[in-house]
Amino acid sequence: MNKNKIIPAPDGRPCIVPSVLSADFSCLKKSLRGLERQAGWVQLDVMDGHFVPNLSFGPHVASGLAAATPLALDAHLMVERPGMFIQPFARAGVSLITVHQEAEDDIGACLKKIRSLGLKAGLALRPKTPLSRALKYLGRVDLLLLMTVEPGFGGQSFMPGILSKISEARRAIAGLGRPVWLQVDGGINEDTAPLAARAGADSLVMGKAVFSNPDPSGFVRKLNARLKGKQLL
Ligand code: DX5
Repeated sequence: MNKNKIIPAPDGRPCIVPSVLSADFSCLKKSLRGLERQAGWVQLDVMDGHFVPNLSFGPHVASGLAAATPLALDAHLMVERPGMFIQPFARAGVSLITVHQEAEDDIGACLKKIRSLGLKAGLALRPKTPLSRALKYLGRVDLLLLMTVEPGFGGQSFMPGILSKISEARRAIAGLGRPVWLQVDGGINEDTAPLAARAGADSLVMGKAVFSNPDPSGFVRKLNARLKGKQLL
């Protein structure tokens, strides 16, 4: 883990997390420039071609990304065997690793291993997976990710049916008595971000909305102002 790249603690305000899945990798450093003043951290969507029908990045790309931005990195493991990748991504310099509840490995053991390496631990649910499958892990995570699209590709449309699941998760986190990020990922843009934040999400992963904009950091700055202005949480 890269000691000087810390995932901030939740502070009740929504924070935007750009996902580099939609970034222009021919000029990654340029695409990320300025985001360090606007975004909470950056997400790397890791796909294995089995858990999702797509292939994306490995630990080597994560270490390259770590060198391209001062922001902390979150590795979202959309893989069948997340246990295999925890150590390699920790070595690559990520600060938070999220595993899917639906993956094959022992999720409790994965969360324990992530934290044993000094990283923050996240648990993700596909849209169809009920929140009840996550409740027994809530005491062992720093972040709960509710997918608002079927995982595998950027640029999909937001699933509004997840809004009630977000609110239910926010109530479950409130009952914990300690801060846990409630992250949403998929189809989050200037229109859906306020809806998700109002439902209780405070970590908003955005890929296409950020990196299809000619001025990614300017886009995030304006959306931040809009979200803070409404004090949605
Ligand atoms: C899906 C990915 C995407 C990505 C964000 O597996 O997790 O949701 O991060 O994509 P956009 O913001 O382009 O929908």
